[in-house]
Formats: sequence, C-alpha cells, structure tokens
Amino acid sequence: MCGIIGCTGAFPALDVLRGGLRALEYRGYDSAGIAFFNADSDILTVKASGKIKNLEDKLDTIPDSEKISFCGIGHTRWATHGEPTERNAHPHGNDRVQIVHNGIIENYRELSVMLSREGYSFKSETDTEVASLLIDFSYKKQGNDPLKALAKARSQLEGSYAIGAVFSDRAGEIYAMRRDNPLIIGLGESESFIASDITAILPYTRKYIRLGENEIARLSGKNVTVFDEYGNACEKQTETALWDVDSAKKGGYPHFMIKEIYEEPDALAKTLAPRISSDLLPNFEGENIDVKRLASSKRIIITACGTAMHAGFIAKYFIEKYARIPVNVEIASEMRYSDMIIDENDAVIVISQSGETADTLAALRLAKNKGAFVTSVVNVVGSTIARESDAVIYTWAGPEIAVASTKAYVVQSALMSLLALAMSLEKKILTESEVKALTGKLLHDLPSDIKYILDMRDEIYSAAQYFADKKDLFCVGRGIDYFAAVEASLKIKEVSYIHSEAYAAGEMKHGTISLIENGTPVIVVSTDKNVRQKIVGNIRELASRGAYIISLSTPDREISDVSDKMLSLPSESGEFLPIAVATLLQMIAYRAAVLKGCDVDCPRNLAKSVTVE
Ligand code: G6P
Repeated sequence: MCGIIGCTGAFPALDVLRGGLRALEYRGYDSAGIAFFNADSDILTVKASGKIKNLEDKLDTIPDSEKISFCGIGHTRWATHGEPTERNAHPHGNDRVQIVHNGIIENYRELSVMLSREGYSFKSETDTEVASLLIDFSYKKQGNDPLKALAKARSQLEGSYAIGAVFSDRAGEIYAMRRDNPLIIGLGESESFIASDITAILPYTRKYIRLGENEIARLSGKNVTVFDEYGNACEKQTETALWDVDSAKKGGYPHFMIKEIYEEPDALAKTLAPRISSDLLPNFEGENIDVKRLASSKRIIITACGTAMHAGFIAKYFIEKYARIPVNVEIASEMRYSDMIIDENDAVIVISQSGETADTLAALRLAKNKGAFVTSVVNVVGSTIARESDAVIYTWAGPEIAVASTKAYVVQSALMSLLALAMSLEKKILTESEVKALTGKLLHDLPSDIKYILDMRDEIYSAAQYFADKKDLFCVGRGIDYFAAVEASLKIKEVSYIHSEAYAAGEMKHGTISLIENGTPVIVVSTDKNVRQKIVGNIRELASRGAYIISLSTPDREISDVSDKMLSLPSESGEFLPIAVATLLQMIAYRAAVLKGCDVDCPRNLAKSVTVE
C-alpha cells in the first residue's frame, strides 16, 4: 500500500528520498514521485508510473545543480482512485503546496465541487489532488499559515489519511497530519523525517515518535513540533525501533520472501522461548495478556485478513482441541459491517503482522464497542492495532518485507498453539506433563522439522516445476491439513499468479471434481493420521480422473503408491507438523514464482500493509 517518506535537515534529500522509496517498495505500489526544495528554494516535483527505476531515470535527466536539496517528500502510490499513471502519481498540488497522501478521502467529490466553484481545476483523477487543493484554498484564506490551513482542511476532510506537505514559501519545512492511517516522525541528530514505517528511515535513525490521531506536525531540520487537535504544542514520547538496518535488507538472498522463510526457525525461537519456562510450561507472566480471562470465555472470535486469518484457522484447531473453547474465525472485512452477535462474554483475538490493516482495525473497534475483551497478536510493536487492543502479545518475527507473508504466519500459528496449551492448563484439561510434552514439540521439534524442510531443495524444485506452467491447481487436505491447504493455495496465487483453489478433500466430489482433467495438479496435505485412510480414498478419486497428485506426507507407502509425487515430511513436531508444512508450501510457491519469472517480493496488484478498505 502507499508509502510516505520525507526529510529535512543535514542529509542530501534526494538520497534519503530515493533510499526511503526503495525501502517502502515492499508495501506494494504502481507509481512513485517526489517533491523537493532546490537550491533556489523552489519546489520541483518529479513523478513516474511503474517502478522507482522509472522515477530515477527521470531524475537523472535533471542537472545536478538543480538537485541540491535538503528537504523533500516522496511517495509510492498503490492506486485506489484513478489508474496508476504518472498523472495520478503523488505528490499533488500546485505552485504553492505539494502533498503526499496515504488513505482515502471519502468526501472528495463534494469537496471537488466546492473547489471548482472557487475556480480550481483538476489534473488528475485522485482524491489526493482534491485534498491538496483544499489545503491550498485554506492556505490562502488563512493568511498563508500552514498550521491553520491544515487544521481547517482537517475539519473538512472525511476518511483516512496520512499527509506530508511542503509549502513553497516555507522552504526547509515539512508539515504532516494524520487520521486513521499511520505516520511516524524520525528524529535524527540534525535532521528529521516523516515515514509510513520505520524501515524507510532505519539507515538514519531508530528514534521516532508516532503522530497521533488528528495531530499536525511541523518539521524543520532537527526541530519537530507536534500540535494536538486544539492547536496546542504537545509532548510526545520518543520510541526506539528494535529492528536493525540489516534485518530490513536481503542479506545475500535473491528475494526477501526466501530470506524470510529461512528466518522461520529463528523467529520461532525468539517468539516462543521467552514464553516457555525452563520446565517447559507455557508462561505468559509479565505480558500484557490475561490467559485466565481468555480460558474462561464461552466463545472466542478470531478476526484478521489474508494470511493472518489463516493463522487464525490453525489457532481455532488447537484452541478447540486443547482448551475446548468454541472458536469462530471471521474475515475482518465482513465482520466490520456485520450485525454480529458479540458481547462482553466473548473474547476476541485479532491477528495482524503489521498491526495497521484497516479492515482488521475496524473489526477490532466493532468488537470493543460491543463490549468484548480484545487481545491482539501483532508483529509491529506499538502499531495501531496493538495500541487499541485491551491486551497484546507480540510475535518477534522481525520485519517482514515481502508482500506474501511467510514467517509471520508460522510464528502466529505457533504462538497461538502455545496460548491454546496455556488455556488448556488453566482449564485443567491437559495435565502438566501432557502440556510439557507438547510445548517441547513446539519449542524444539517444530524448528528442527522446519530446518529439515528448508533442505528439501530438490523435491521442492521438482514439485514447483511440474505446475509452474499450469493455469489451475488445487490444494486439498482434511481437518487441520485443510487449513494448511487454504494458506498454501493463497501463497501460490499471490506469488506465482497460478489460479489455485483450496478444498476440503472430502468436499471435492460435491462439485469441484468436475474441474479435474488429465494432468490437473492437486497438492494433497496429509499429516493427520486420524483421517489418513480417508485421504487415501480422496486421492484415488482424484487420480482416477486424471489429477496429477503431489502429496505431502510423512513416509507412507500407500500414499506414495497412489500419488504421482510424494514429498516425505519429517515427523518430530507431531501435531504441529502442519505448521512446518506451511514452510514447505511457501518454498514450493516461491520456487514456482521464480520459475515463472514473477516479481516475487512485490506481486502485481498486491500491497503489504492494507491501510485502506
Ligand atoms: C495483505 C498482505 C497479506 C496479509 C494481509 C493481512 O493482504 O498482502 O500478506 O496477510 O494483508 O495483513 P496483516 O498485516 O494484518 O497481517
């Protein structure tokens, strides 16, 4: 989703903006642009559709003397209103003001009618241009006072926004404001920054403040002043990012996606080890969560989007199995507008890597309004979802840059499994020794199975090679293996653009089996021994209609015999093997995408952090 970067102070602005835009690429975008003050204090705006390279090529045509700058703003745009063309790329504005914007201005039509009456005309199809001209209109009315202009515009803008702005007669200054869309302000030695997230400014500083709802900030060199909604300067708490610069770099890997898959064992250790005592019991003491309260709930509702929601399915399976609490998994974008029956007896668990997904945040707010106690499982410390929840448990996966989520899913699934065990203990369902045995599997055997899988390169290559040139495939399983198949199917679609459907294996014969033709690839996940015989039957049904079966199972002669290809899984992690299987399926999806020459880290049309509806 769109990204904002801005800097003022000692560093050459164009270097910071280019680096920042590159660092924000992972969020997903389809055009980019910058506006900066040159040596004559004039604002120059340069934009390009497509990749940042196109913007850089344009910048290369500008004489170096014109590019001496110490203040500017930049943007990567993920199109919402209007096509991803240069005309629609940010910054937008006129010769007095230029802005970059993340979010959606919902009343832009009404505002554009009002502005047209005032003599404004529009060059783009974007809501952002309307916002920029509204700010300009207020600027003129408010005696060229940027703070008053932004405050006035804030009272008229509806929707969500994080805005960075420069005004032509305020060289060296950047202004920012936000509502329902994140923006941080980086604090350097002799400079300051605005950014959508910390990765854009990590090379320069790890110190930052979060701009609050409806606050406005003025940045000039190292001087930053934040004003609350009444116009009073306010104190802000400085935070320090724990992530280092290298964690947001590829570190020798060809893509972030594969780097992040290889980081899974380490991310698991960082996330689980602090929550497991030396005698292998789950231990959430000292954390801001209430296991007792969760364990005593009549029902748990898990809500999330995309891959995080699929981790919710794994959580459902283990919470129901170990803690015997019914769990509903709700799509956040549906839940937010539903008339769902939730009350104070329900526990709601929100799962989000970024902690900023707009639909997930809206579902969280709905649940809180209805009186439910909300616990979130979040990777980005201090993110909006983390701050608005009643309780939060952090996954310590480090920055996840590739759009397709991999390590976040694995740690979310494992952490939720540990939480299920903690609830089980609380409810005295499993005994301490049973829990210890399972906790040991999570802490030691799951990472070791994942390491084993990471070495299955030849098998992964051969599976991916079979379907990389196919148009359709199916991923099937039963029970928890079906949930693993759902995530596998999403991963394949996201990065390799192959149409894929996930099905509960037993349901195929109720319609979907009509789509099986000679050679149609079907990936079968089979770890659950309780339904092993059933899945063998399902494979036979599919194979006899021509399906090409790629099965993932622990060594099993019969499954191997009925499959065209079988990838033999390790088995140390026992019940948690479906979490390790995710790694294998992520690797297969990755390999297929590479074979097809896809843009693995930034798949077309997708965004990492979806901060608009
Ligand atoms: C986007 C990403 C997915 C992610 C989903 C939820 O769609 O492309 O990879 O799973 O958002 O993101 P969250 O940050 O809330 O986990």
